[in-house]
Amino acid sequence: MKQLISPSVLSCDFANIQRDVEMINQSNADWFHIDVMDGVFVPNISFGFPVLEAIKKHAIKPMDVHLMIQNPDMYIEQFKKSGADILTVHYEVCTHLHRTIQKIKECGMMAAVALNPHTPVSLLEDVITDLDMVLIMSVNPGYGGQKFIDHAVEKVRQTKKMITEKGLKTLIEVDGGVNDITGKLLIDAGADVLVAGSYVFNSENPSSRIDLLKSL
Ligand code: DX5
Ligand code: ZN
Repeated sequence: MKQLISPSVLSCDFANIQRDVEMINQSNADWFHIDVMDGVFVPNISFGFPVLEAIKKHAIKPMDVHLMIQNPDMYIEQFKKSGADILTVHYEVCTHLHRTIQKIKECGMMAAVALNPHTPVSLLEDVITDLDMVLIMSVNPGYGGQKFIDHAVEKVRQTKKMITEKGLKTLIEVDGGVNDITGKLLIDAGADVLVAGSYVFNSENPSSRIDLLKSL
């Protein structure tokens, strides 16, 4: 399968959000990556339901929503109502992760779990069969434009091994510091979905950057 590209809306121009959504619609990108931050789990606040709903009005591709919030269970239904197609929660905030995953799926969304850079892949051993996707963080979550943490490549390899050994179809997504160089390393290690924010939007020609990531 050719890798999927999920441009991170966090790096778009919020005063021209419709223009940037249209760029993604017209590009070879596959999903919209939407980062929700609560200022508690991560030291930054991004946006919430009204912004998701505004994007959903124009987006013609699936919304890949990455929750960097405490207590995600409280809001699962509301994220579905606001347009999420794929919902990612962080391992570090879910005491009853299995229950959270089931609830996301019952609401009709793909369920994914994100691992912070310090969280080992082995912790997913007993829950990976229930997951549609694993998100490996290659930066500490909270901001766009950070430096890629090299160890993420090894974590992708470990995750791929676990998925293959269990005969699963779980996707592997990677988020943070992805560009043409790190993206290639990740694809070779087994990544299926690349998130890219600053690499795409800090360019004169964002859709050509998407093409480049798609062609790795
Ligand atoms: C970071 C977010 C990322 C961010 C990636 O906490 O989860 O999705 O937008 O931005 P870049 O690609 O610039 O590292
Ligand atoms: Zn993200």
